Amino acid sequence: MNILVTGGAGYIGSHTAIALLEAKHSVIIADNLCNSSSGTIRKIESITGKKVTFYEMDVTVEEAVESLFKTHSIDAVIHFAGLKSVGESVEKPLNYYSNNMISTLNLAKMCLKYGVNRFVFSSSATVYGDNIVPFEESMNLLPATNPYGETKVMCERILTDLAHANPAFSVSLLRYFNPIGAHESGLIGEVPNGVPNNLMPYITQVAKGKLAKLRVFGNDYPTADGTGLRDYIHVVDLAEGHVAALENLIEGVHTHNLGTGNGTSVLELVNAFEEANRIHVPYEVVGRRPGDIAVCYADVSKAARELGWKAKRNINDMCRDAWRFEVHNGTGKTT
Ligand code: NAD
Ligand code: UD1
Repeated sequence: MNILVTGGAGYIGSHTAIALLEAKHSVIIADNLCNSSSGTIRKIESITGKKVTFYEMDVTVEEAVESLFKTHSIDAVIHFAGLKSVGESVEKPLNYYSNNMISTLNLAKMCLKYGVNRFVFSSSATVYGDNIVPFEESMNLLPATNPYGETKVMCERILTDLAHANPAFSVSLLRYFNPIGAHESGLIGEVPNGVPNNLMPYITQVAKGKLAKLRVFGNDYPTADGTGLRDYIHVVDLAEGHVAALENLIEGVHTHNLGTGNGTSVLELVNAFEEANRIHVPYEVVGRRPGDIAVCYADVSKAARELGWKAKRNINDMCRDAWRFEVHNGTGKTT
């Protein structure tokens, strides 16, 4: 298939572009590089030995999106492009609502106009809120506590309504848990903007000596060691989950959790990182981070049953690959 990958120069999009090329699909990437760099496109090509068609463009600009649909015969869209920082979304809600909503609306509109019937959307476990674990796709979603989460809930709803109104339209809503790690080549990975908010990039930067020590946000949660529990998934497994979702997409709306089904605490991840890489990560326990939930992990049985997909890589692989990328690349804005 000829796949339009928006946000394909970013962290998850670039790994998915590789997985798609390896599965013999053609990839067109549209990215405005607001959180990535064009060097990633060359790296995707050098890893796979295949060509990518790249457009530096903003998918909130309707005319630009339309010209893409006119120029290429597109079979499916995977829509990663979006802003993703929870804290920033609270400070700049309009940026988040306009970027994340308008991009989705433009793409959906052009899919209808040009008869593109397959749409895969990057959603998040954040739509479950503070629910009962394991999170199941059929659960009632709880109101989002920040504009970022709200855009995910709203985009899911828009695409669902669209599919109900247009029976030929197929939508895959993929709810990611916590993607970490990097491609095993060490060439692409996650490069956070400024001081990382998320745990793994913070750990790798402490290990590298760029940051003095990790702050563990709370050790009084109702978990075995008191620290927060998350379902970390290797980004390459996540990427392969997209190929499975796309290749198994049938008419209607289909929601799948992409996680491992296992919870790992903050301290367990720190210990695993130290063991996998034989490097010390100094930390101190501080107060809870506002807005954090105690425990979040997926029920992954639906994805296994319907997509024939399961995460294969373990925490050790995630720690090793995240560190390899940090050692080789961890500065500057190149994923
Ligand atoms: P990322 O920032 O690395 O990638 C997003 C890409 O989209 C970037 O390359 C950016 O330049 C591009 N982009 C943003 N707005 C654009 C626009 N208007 N037009 C064109 N390009 C635009 O983020 P990521 O971690 O790869 O996340 C990809 C998607 O997955 C996002 O929608 C994000 O909300 C979602 N998601 C991410 C996580 C996570 O932990 N990383 C978890 C759940 C969901
Ligand atoms: C965060 C986002 C969530 C998003 C997810 C994946 C917030 C409030 N939530 O979730 O919406 O879907 O990333 O991108 O930002 N931790 C520390 N020290 C740190 C960083 C994190 O102890 O410096 C702890 C956290 O308290 C948490 C765990 O590590 O228990 C994981 O944190 P993080 O990587 O930020 O992911 P989430 O909190 O799951």
